[in-house]
Amino acid sequence: MDTFHNCSRPRSLIVTKVLRYWSLFLLFFGVLWAQPKDPYIGSQACRGCHLVQTQDFFRNAHTKADRGCEGCHGPGRAHVNGGGKKDAIIAFSTLTPKKSLDTCLQCHSKDMSRANIRRSSHTQSEVVCANCHSIHKSATPKYLLAHQQKDLCYTCHTDVKAQFSMPFKHRVNEGTVQCSDCHNPHGAPASNWRMGQRPRMQQHAQSNEQSCVQCHADKRGPFLFEHAALRVDGCNSCHAPHGSANPRLLNRPVVFTLCLECHNGAAGFGRTGEGIPTQSGSHNMADPRYQNCTACHVKIHGSNADARFLR
Ligand code: HEC
Ligand code: HEC
Ligand code: HEC
Ligand code: HEC
Ligand code: HEC
Ligand code: HEC
Ligand code: HEC
Ligand code: HEC
Ligand code: HEC
Ligand code: HEC
Repeated sequence: MDTFHNCSRPRSLIVTKVLRYWSLFLLFFGVLWAQPKDPYIGSQACRGCHLVQTQDFFRNAHTKADRGCEGCHGPGRAHVNGGGKKDAIIAFSTLTPKKSLDTCLQCHSKDMSRANIRRSSHTQSEVVCANCHSIHKSATPKYLLAHQQKDLCYTCHTDVKAQFSMPFKHRVNEGTVQCSDCHNPHGAPASNWRMGQRPRMQQHAQSNEQSCVQCHADKRGPFLFEHAALRVDGCNSCHAPHGSANPRLLNRPVVFTLCLECHNGAAGFGRTGEGIPTQSGSHNMADPRYQNCTACHVKIHGSNADARFLR
């Protein structure tokens, strides 16, 4: 109080000055206060303590993603200020599979169908993104896979490995064909063959067809005379898609036993509704010559010339 009395300047002037300094003070500390409110700190701040994860990150597709490290690990300021407090950061090692999946889908549901992922047998068995992709220790720069593709799938599907070692097979182990040529590990839309039953996450060729026809285009048709088995039941009603002990990857060692699985009269289909005649002008099942069905029915996948696929 005394200082004010002794002062030669008018009181109002002093008040203005105090106010001015006060507002500068406010502004200065305001800026200081405001900053810690932004929970993000930027990837640079991670470098000092997580050199391994940071040093190759510029090669990772995620350098293009918003927020760098924090795009996946969440805001990092509290973690940094806490000297590396684990519960202040999104640590995948502590997440449930569902939480882990959701973290990736924050961004990736734009480019892949969330619905397909959710109903895929992988998600339903709690196999999620980080089981197959490795962000920091990827074996393939492209797609950031945890292992080379076939090794990746074989880590869990050991029984399938044996199928691709059979005498007749698609050359997956040799690298000619890949699992993902036929399967979509992220799940696939419902199929339009086998009445949508058990699509086995099959990759679809264009316009919702079986994956097979993207390579075996001559089997795609459309044919004037279709063999209903192809479209209704799918290629795998006659072929073992992975591998087989039988030539042409057939499900049966002898062709006629394959045909008779359906053309046995019991199913009631066929022009006569009785399967194939066992004894007739064209067929005589007692004669082995007639057992090689595809010797006559050569266009077994469909024909544009003959309703019985004879040419
Ligand atoms: C695309 C998402 C994503 C981004 C971006 C990302 N991480 Fe990770 N991070 C993960 C996942 C997933 C794991 C779990 C381990 C794994 O699957 O590789 C992980 C694990 C870690 C770990 C645990 C140790 C380890 O390697 O397993 C540290 C530390 C880490 N990340 C730091 C960082 C830093 C630093 C950055 C930025 C340079 C970063 N992360 C960017 C997804 C990401
Ligand atoms: C001051 C050093 C320091 C800085 C800076 C730092 N961390 Fe950490 N971080 C640690 C320590 C220490 C741990 C291990 C904590 C534990 O295990 O309890 C850790 C753990 C983690 C984990 C969990 C790993 C796991 O076990 O799954 C992730 C993820 C992570 N940090 C990401 C980041 C990100 C992203 C940044 C930058 C925003 C960052 N850290 C900055 C020290 C730091
Ligand atoms: C903050 C957004 C964001 C998050 C979260 C995120 N990603 Fe990504 N991801 C991206 C972007 C952006 C790209 C680059 C897309 C491009 O190049 O067109 C990408 C690319 C990828 C690629 C393809 C890499 C390539 O070589 O083409 C894979 C695989 C991937 N992310 C997996 C994951 C996984 C697994 C997670 C969860 C652990 C995850 N992402 C979380 C944004 C994100
Ligand atoms: C069962 C293993 C598996 C799981 C689980 C998985 N991926 Fe993939 N992902 C792959 C394989 C294999 C490829 C490479 C496909 C190819 O070569 O055509 C791939 C490719 C990708 C690509 C790049 C090409 C594309 O299809 O867009 C992205 C992005 C991606 N995955 C993100 C994810 C995300 C996000 C998740 C979780 C929602 C996830 N993946 C779950 C195996 C998996
Ligand atoms: C971490 C383990 C794991 C990995 C890696 C993995 N899978 Fe799977 N996969 C499973 C489980 C678990 C199931 C569900 C149970 C079953 O059918 O065996 C499954 C099911 C499947 C199915 C059957 C779907 C159905 O509806 O019956 C196919 C096809 C498949 N996986 C393909 C792949 C391909 C291709 C890869 C590599 C890109 C792969 N998986 C990698 C664990 C895995
Ligand atoms: C030439 C196409 C093709 C290739 C390549 C392929 N698959 Fe398949 N796979 C199929 C078809 C078609 C089915 C459905 C079979 C059925 O329903 O009878 C299937 C079924 C499956 C199943 C479920 C049935 C079972 O046998 O358990 C799994 C798991 C599977 N595949 C994994 C894989 C893995 C892993 C790879 C790579 C190593 C792979 N597939 C490569 C076409 C393929
Ligand atoms: C990525 C391309 C590709 C896809 C997809 C594919 N195949 Fe093949 N297929 C091949 C190649 C290449 C061969 C030749 C095999 C070899 O000699 O290595 C082959 C061979 C075959 C053969 C044996 C032919 C012979 O002369 O012995 C049959 C049968 C077959 N595939 C059926 C299928 C079925 C059924 C599907 C779907 C489930 C399918 N393929 C999907 C590429 C493919
Ligand atoms: C009704 C049973 C049946 C169905 C369904 C079937 N195939 Fe075949 N396929 C055969 C038979 C039988 C042979 C052997 C023909 C021979 O030895 O002359 C064969 C041979 C093949 C061959 C090797 C010879 C050639 O003609 O190129 C390929 C490739 C093939 N099939 C692919 C497919 C594809 C792709 C589909 C699904 C679009 C399919 N098959 C559906 C019965 C079938
Ligand atoms: C998965 C079941 C299935 C298998 C296996 C199968 N077919 Fe068929 N086939 C059908 C059906 C369904 C039709 C249509 C019948 C109809 O229109 O009533 C058909 C029609 C035909 C036709 C045309 C004449 C007719 O009755 O309409 C011939 C010829 C034929 N099949 C021969 C064969 C031969 C040869 C084989 C063995 C290589 C074979 N099929 C294997 C289901 C099958
Ligand atoms: C020597 C040649 C020859 C052989 C081998 C042969 N077929 Fe035929 N098939 C024919 C001829 C020709 C027709 C048409 C005349 C007829 O219906 O009798 C025919 C007709 C059919 C039809 C249609 C019947 C209908 O009601 O129209 C079916 C289904 C059929 N064959 C299935 C088979 C099966 C399955 C095999 C093997 C077990 C087989 N064929 C072996 C020559 C042959």
